Amino acid sequence: MCKYNVLRKGEKKCTRFRPLSFEVPKPLFPVAGVPMLQHHIEACAKVPNMKEILLMGFYQPNEELNRFLLNAQQEFKISIRYLQEYAALGTGGGIYHFRDQIVSGSPEAFFVMNADVCSAFPLEEMLSFQKEHGEPNSFVILGTTANRKQSMNYGCIVENEETNEVLHYVEKPSTFVSDIINCGIYLFSPDIFQHIGGVFQKNQEEMLLYSFDGEESTNGWHRAEAIRLEQDVFTALAGQGKLYVYKTLGFWSQIKSAGSAIYASRLYLNQYHKTHPERLATNKKGGPKISGNVYIHPTANIDPTATLGPNVSIGTGVTISAGVRVRESIVLHGANLQDHCCVLNSIVGWDSTVGKWARVEGTPSDPNPNDPLAKMDSETLFREGKLTPSITILGCNVTIPSEVIILNSIVLPHKDLNRSFKNQIIL
Ligand code: GTP
Repeated sequence: MCKYNVLRKGEKKCTRFRPLSFEVPKPLFPVAGVPMLQHHIEACAKVPNMKEILLMGFYQPNEELNRFLLNAQQEFKISIRYLQEYAALGTGGGIYHFRDQIVSGSPEAFFVMNADVCSAFPLEEMLSFQKEHGEPNSFVILGTTANRKQSMNYGCIVENEETNEVLHYVEKPSTFVSDIINCGIYLFSPDIFQHIGGVFQKNQEEMLLYSFDGEESTNGWHRAEAIRLEQDVFTALAGQGKLYVYKTLGFWSQIKSAGSAIYASRLYLNQYHKTHPERLATNKKGGPKISGNVYIHPTANIDPTATLGPNVSIGTGVTISAGVRVRESIVLHGANLQDHCCVLNSIVGWDSTVGKWARVEGTPSDPNPNDPLAKMDSETLFREGKLTPSITILGCNVTIPSEVIILNSIVLPHKDLNRSFKNQIIL
């Protein structure tokens, strides 16, 4: 059996991920110590008979992406290629455009994953589910449950409770439809291209009909090849006996904003107990005090009197001095946390410095801090980008002086602050 895997990379300018997406494409932002996409790749590489991983997006590949691909190929011993879309083709358009590459080698099935999801990726369970539940060549959406209010921010699925067939699919409904939501992880057979092809043809006919002087097609885009899997394909496939939902109890979250990366880090760090215990720091003689789940890159230099955790990731070459306290935070490579500073619910950007006795702090309203896997809406939990950010983010190469407090603020790259700030976006 041959399986292909398609990872999706969005073309958007990642505005909600600012200021961190200025430095690195969002899919390469480190979550629990490794680039966001590496979690997808690790999960795919574990599936028996997986033949290749294809990443798709509109990004111009750069040195960083190429290096990441090369390292990941070597580490996971699987072919990984990046296919660049000529324009943003949407969640269905990219896989349709590159369908020949996907079906070459005649795979029985392939996975498609959104890049911005954090999940336990139960890929083998999805395969078993497809064998047991669906018709041969059926399509499987990974689903999870959300509360009524949260569900309306996602694709909502009404299922046949006995067969798990998807009976209705509505993307981001304006009123409550179902508490089963689409996780953005799919298992398809090559038959899916007939259905996407149907949408492509319809789009083409529409374009001819309206002769397209800058008008939009029904999907709101200007290209027949721009196709949304959710609205254009799943909505029509529901109730046709082809589309099924596999509901997972495993963790799942979206990584939309920079702040939600802290929540995703918490989920992945917790998963490391099972998958990568070697990535979790432990209390050792002569080492810092570790509380809960913490990742420390081997090149980081940490003073033994520092206390780290829970939910902390420390990147390459970070320096952490005496008496420093870090909790619920991501510290990116090259950052320098000076004596006795305190970093809570924050992201400290690459090469930034936090001065002695300074306090860098966010205040997310965590409904259940004792349960690392509590179902939460990461967007409301760690929302930022509005006037009162709930976590603090320091962009790259920011300097925070000694003995100041930076509370619930976003600091843009290369800023040299000279006083305390609260609830501000510092441009
Ligand atoms: P919101 O509207 O922001 O809630 O987003 P959403 O989650 O409904 O969809 P979004 O447009 O953020 O897309 C989700 C994921 O789909 C992205 O992270 C990408 O991985 C993938 N995706 C979206 N658009 C494209 C595209 O044009 N090309 C490719 N290759 N992938 C895409």
